[in-house]
Amino acid sequence: MFGFSTDLGIDLGTANLKVYARGRGVVLREPSVVAVATGSQRILAIGEEARRMLGRTPGEIRAVRPMKDGVIADYDITEALLRHFIEKVSGRRSFIRPRIVICVPAGVTDVERRAVMEAAMQAGARKTYLIEEPVAAAIGAGINISEPSGNMIVDIGGGTTEVAVISLNGIVASESLRIGGDRLDDAIVRYVKRVHNLMIGEMTAEEVKVRIGTAYPGDDERFADVRGRDLVTGLPRTLRLSSGEVFEALAEPVTAIVQGVKSVLERTPPELASDIVDKGIVMMGGGALLRGLPRLLSEETGIPAHLAEDPMSTVVLGAGMILEQLEVVPEGVLVAR
Ligand SMILES: Nc1ncnc2c1ncn2[C@@H]1O[C@H](COP(=O)(O)OP(=O)(O)OP(=O)(O)O)[C@@H](O)[C@H]1O
Ligand SMILES: [Mg+2]
Repeated sequence: MFGFSTDLGIDLGTANLKVYARGRGVVLREPSVVAVATGSQRILAIGEEARRMLGRTPGEIRAVRPMKDGVIADYDITEALLRHFIEKVSGRRSFIRPRIVICVPAGVTDVERRAVMEAAMQAGARKTYLIEEPVAAAIGAGINISEPSGNMIVDIGGGTTEVAVISLNGIVASESLRIGGDRLDDAIVRYVKRVHNLMIGEMTAEEVKVRIGTAYPGDDERFADVRGRDLVTGLPRTLRLSSGEVFEALAEPVTAIVQGVKSVLERTPPELASDIVDKGIVMMGGGALLRGLPRLLSEETGIPAHLAEDPMSTVVLGAGMILEQLEVVPEGVLVAR
């Protein structure tokens, strides 16, 4: 067999790793979770299988999420995670190593960038290119970023929310908030504990958020049963939660996200702000799927806000579109090569 390589675009998210293969499109989305044996440090499971172990591991197994707040928190495990999925997508028989376009949050330090670059190389890349997530998000949303016109994107992931105004291939104003889906889950855990004396797990909280969560006051009421441990009796107990309660639980982090968007708008030059009013705010990332969030953001800013198509894949799609035209990428779009 002749050697071939599939060049890859990768969004190494806090919650999910996504891969785009050149000529094929988005081929993989799996949780960024690795299960490790506590003693030997041996890797037991990666991706979806490891995610199902979160909060359910006996003492000798740890389920680790190696990315935190959008950056690498555990280098070795990140490398293992990358290697696993690069091999899975490339096929083990390919012996030319792939070129990889990989996303990094805007405004991370040089050290953090170099760590991502290094991890991709160690995991099997022949050459690695870095692109800032908001730029990839805008490209993936179908925005022509090379025009002298303002575009605002809001990417709400698991770990961070990135708000950016982009024009002429670059970021004009941005803010990276360490608030994302994880913080929303945590807010639900804390609410249920405080108001109902019930301890629930993070995965349960996430399910509640996805099923009945809402960011918009007065959205129609929905209900979900949650199971946890009663903090008084110590025994398992089931509780019926309403979406009104989940709204209340989420109010604080949701308000912080809205404030972050407002603060970037305040720092946006007037001509670009006027473009944004015309075109609207484009939202992506799994967190943007929270019911009522686009509507809330529209009302709070006075600017229409809408979801990109397939919000969880927008960033990796942007990386993939860059990959398809690596030879002619305009100056400044890639932050390292
Ligand atoms: N329908 C939904 N409603 C609310 N939140 C959702 C929904 N679907 C997914 N999410 C949340 O989206 C988040 C994952 O989104 P995404 O894959 O974009 O994050 P990521 O790119 O891995 O993280 P980051 O960009 O912060 O590194 C999780 O917190 C998940 O709970
Ligand atoms: Mg993301």
